[in-house]
Amino acid sequence: MAHVNEHYHKLKAGYLFPEIARRVSSFCDTHADADVIRLGIGDVTEPLPEAIVSAMHQAVDEMAQRSSFRGYGPEQGYDFLRSAIAENDYQARGIGITPEEIFVSDGSKCDSGNILDIFGPSNVVAITDPVYPVYVDTNVMAGHTGNANDSGRFDGLVYLPIGAENNFTPALPDAPVDLIYLCYPNNPTGTVVSHQALQQWVDYAQQHDALILYDAAYEAYISEPEIPHSIYEIDGAREVAIEFRSFSKNAGFTGTRCAFTVVPESLTGTCGNGDRTSIHTLWNRRQSTKFNGVSYVIQRGAAAAYSVEGKTQIQELVAFYLTNARLLREGLEAVGIEVYGGINAPYVWLRTPGGQSSWDFFDDLLSHSHLVGTPGSGFGASGEGYFRLSAFNSRENIEQAVQRFQALVS
Ligand code: MLT
Repeated sequence: MAHVNEHYHKLKAGYLFPEIARRVSSFCDTHADADVIRLGIGDVTEPLPEAIVSAMHQAVDEMAQRSSFRGYGPEQGYDFLRSAIAENDYQARGIGITPEEIFVSDGSKCDSGNILDIFGPSNVVAITDPVYPVYVDTNVMAGHTGNANDSGRFDGLVYLPIGAENNFTPALPDAPVDLIYLCYPNNPTGTVVSHQALQQWVDYAQQHDALILYDAAYEAYISEPEIPHSIYEIDGAREVAIEFRSFSKNAGFTGTRCAFTVVPESLTGTCGNGDRTSIHTLWNRRQSTKFNGVSYVIQRGAAAAYSVEGKTQIQELVAFYLTNARLLREGLEAVGIEVYGGINAPYVWLRTPGGQSSWDFFDDLLSHSHLVGTPGSGFGASGEGYFRLSAFNSRENIEQAVQRFQALVS
C-alpha cells in the first residue's frame, strides 16, 4: 500500500495563481470576445535582452561541437556564473560573499521550498501576513503546521501582520521563533524595508539563534538609494541569513529559469544534541543529491546579465516595468484609491474601493472591466480588503488597464 503525504490535504484550495487562471479561463469560456488584460501573476512579458540571447546562441553552438560539448555540470553552478554573481551583486557593494557561497538553481520559488529539506520539523516558523504563498504551503506540505482555521491561517505558524499601520515592516515576534521568512522588495505589497528595520531582524536572529530566509527576488527594482539590496549589507547577517535571488524578474527568466541562493559558510544550525553544524555543507549535500544543475546554455545567458551590454539592457527592462508601476500608481491615486508599493517593486498594492472583499473586487474587475489582478486575501488573512496589480505587461495594456480601472471606480 502506498501511503500519501496527508499534509497535502491541509492545503484547502489550489495554489493561488492556478486558481486565478482557472477563474479567468472560465470567464473567457463564456465571454469569448472579452479583451482580458492580465495583471495577476507577476510574469514578465518583454523578450530576453539581446546580450543574453546572443550568449545563449553561442552556448548552443558550443554544445553542437564535440570539442566544446558539456555534459553534467557542477550541481552548484558553473564557476563563471558564481564568480560573476559574487563580484557584481555582492563584492561591488562591499559585501564579502564568495563564489563558493553561491548555489545556482532553477528558481527562487523552488529553492525557498526545497530549503526545508535541511531543517528539522520542530522549528517554529514565522511568516509575514500577507505573504508569498509558497513559504506557507511548503511548510504545510513538510508537516510543520496543523490545520488551517476559517481565515486560512495554519496552526503552528507565527503570523506577523504587515500593513500601512506598521509601514509594511513586521514587528518582532513576542515569543521566540526559529525560522523567519522575509521578502523585500516585498511580494505581494511592493514595499521595502529600511536598513535600520532589517538590522533589528538580524539582531533578533542573533539573540534568539534564529535563521532568516531572505527572499530578494525583486532586488533589481530598488530605485531609492537608501534601501538595502541584500541582507548581507546588514552587520551580522552572514551568521544568520540565507538569501534567495533570481534572474526571473530582472532579466526576464520566468520561462528560462535561473536563480541562486546564497548560503554563507559562516552559517550554522543546531543538532538535536546541541552541536553546531554547517548549513552550507547540508545545502551542498542536498543539492548534490537532488539536483543536477541548471543547463549550460541558460547559465551562459545568466552570466551575460553581468556584461556591460547586459547590465544596460536589464536596467532598461527594469525601468520599463517601473514606469508601468508608476502609471498604475498615479492612475489609481487620481481616482482616490489608496495605493502602496510600485516605487521599488513591480507590484502595486491597493485598498479595494468601497471596502469590498478582495475576491468580490476580483470578480467585479474581471466581469466589468475585463482586468485580472490578485486578491490580497489570497496572500493571507491580513491581505483581505487589498488587491495586487502586477506591472509586468506592455505599455499599451497598462494604459488601457488604468483607463478601465478609472472608469470602474469613478
Ligand atoms: C507572483 O505573482 O507572486 C510571482 O509571479 C510568483 C513567483 O514568482 O513565483
